[in-house]
Amino acid sequence: ASFIIVAIDGGAASGKSSTSRALSARFNLLHVDTGSFYRTMTAELLRVGVSADDADGIGQAAAALPLDTAIEGRRASMCINGRIVPDAEIRTSEVNANVSIFAAVPELRRALLDYQRNLAAVAREHGFPGLVMEGRDIGSVIFPDADFRFFLHADPAERARRRAAEGQTDSIAERDRLDTSRKTAPLACPEGATDIDSTFMTLEEVVERISGDLATRL
Ligand code: C5P
Repeated sequence: ASFIIVAIDGGAASGKSSTSRALSARFNLLHVDTGSFYRTMTAELLRVGVSADDADGIGQAAAALPLDTAIEGRRASMCINGRIVPDAEIRTSEVNANVSIFAAVPELRRALLDYQRNLAAVAREHGFPGLVMEGRDIGSVIFPDADFRFFLHADPAERARRRAAEGQTDSIAERDRLDTSRKTAPLACPEGATDIDSTFMTLEEVVERISGDLATRL
């Protein structure tokens, strides 16, 4: 059987993560949350004192970071200097407020490009039949030839409600504004991807919808 790549893109709180986790469990796919990579890089660059308005400094520091990957269960985590940077350090309000600014710097995205593509080889080495990668530019830039590409969106009020239900107070509208308006790899439904409006759908319905497609190959 061939190796399957599933790309899931969408804005903040669009349901990407829950959907990707469910697909990973159902089809035994390696789950790659690329937002956690941008968060990890941002946390590390803030920690070493690189400022958000210093694009050159961000690019140089990002390219010099010793990156590695840890596979725990079905999840891939980024390691810096051999250490997984824990959720408690990458889901802070400081990272929420800065990640979209750092992620707009082309040199930082460039530093992550091969790292993300290489995870297909990592997934194969670990015996996974495929991977599900979620982010903003997976179907457009990282894996434009992915076997399956989906774009999730939901009305802003519904997304804010979902985030609040999780106890989070992240300014998702501001991050989406920055992610959509940046020059490099802006957030958008890639051409040819399947656009799913989940505003009036449950998580289970979204997962069923996508699973129906994947089941033709897995
Ligand atoms: O997915 P999450 O909301 O955790 O992503 C955090 C931020 O990382 C996004 O708001 C975006 O600025 C950036 N990101 C990106 N490209 C990706 C994934 C995330 O620019 N593929």
